Amino acid sequence: SSTKMEKEPVKVLVTGAAGQIGYALIPMIARGVMLGPDQPVIIHMLDIEQAAEALHGVEMELIDGAFPLLRGVVATTDVAEACSDVNIAIMLGGIPRTEGMERKAVMSRNVSIYKAQALALEQHAAADCKVLVVANPANTNALILKEFAPSIPEKNITCLTRLDHNRALGQIAEKLQEHVSDVKNVIIWGNHSSTQYPDVNHATVTTSSGEISVRDLIADDKWLNTEFITTVQQRGAAIIKARKHSSALSAASAVCDHIHDWVLGTPEGTWVSMGVCSYGSYGITPGLIYSFPVTCQNGKWSIVQGLKIDEFSRAKMDATANELLEEKSLAYSFLG
Ligand code: NAD
Ligand code: LMR
Repeated sequence: SSTKMEKEPVKVLVTGAAGQIGYALIPMIARGVMLGPDQPVIIHMLDIEQAAEALHGVEMELIDGAFPLLRGVVATTDVAEACSDVNIAIMLGGIPRTEGMERKAVMSRNVSIYKAQALALEQHAAADCKVLVVANPANTNALILKEFAPSIPEKNITCLTRLDHNRALGQIAEKLQEHVSDVKNVIIWGNHSSTQYPDVNHATVTTSSGEISVRDLIADDKWLNTEFITTVQQRGAAIIKARKHSSALSAASAVCDHIHDWVLGTPEGTWVSMGVCSYGSYGITPGLIYSFPVTCQNGKWSIVQGLKIDEFSRAKMDATANELLEEKSLAYSFLG
């Protein structure tokens, strides 16, 4: 009835909203997939002048969707207006790589966007705004955003590696012919790039006889130590080759998973992978945005501590950290 108490709407910004991930993501947000079926939302969509007409088309479709949870839409090319009072910011804006490129090849174009938008978020977003950077190179764009928006709490600035995490779950489920929802606690360490380290050493599958470690279920160590890792590392490139466009529906779904779990919490006994600011856990240089296993509670993430790291893992975790250090100095060289 009309006397039922309703939650205050949450304002969600999507940058690059006229692009392909935006087109898959925005209806998911409007349907409550990201924040839950009882959470009204107001969606702010930002894109650049050249995409203004396409953005208006998405705005018309949002109205045509008659989404019960959607309490308002702002479609704009004005960064300040887009960032105004937003509680959550999903940063898709930028240029994607094409076939044959590494993700860091788009860096020169994209890091300057993240420096400029850091300032806009700092000035106009809600003080506790949670930020998720998706545009590549995702970790380094998030690092630039963090460094140029010092008044946003650094724990509120994250990047997307949940897609890689979900890809790893999917590969294990396919190999074992199990339901993907029964597989958990894979880890993506490091950069959202081909140096990322997908780690199954702590992953389990829930079976009729309880939780069994993936290493015990998959006797084929060679597959786990080679093909599994490269398949996950190269999955983005495989999608680009097949679709001629980078992943979009799986990226949008992973964005919803990332924000959903960050805001509403991870289930007991389960962790997920998020690109977050390092404070030195597992020997990773403080200040880098590095993907770690995290649990979330009350809107805050914390890194899972005390996992045993063998030599094979150590080398791979360090290699991807080194790439992030290189990307950081490259990014600063572009910013001049
Ligand atoms: P897309 O080219 O379809 O859309 C990007 C949109 O950003 C375009 O509409 C463009 O006009 C807009 N844009 C460009 N500069 C902007 C600016 N300064 N402000 C606001 N908007 C701006 O690309 P897409 O396929 O939607 O991918 C978006 C980004 O996400 C790419 O960088 C892609 O590589 C990355 N990506 C990351 C992951 C991940 O897992 N982290 C997964 C998939 C894609
Ligand atoms: C992905 O992982 O699918 C995206 O980062 C797009 C890309 O460039 O691989």
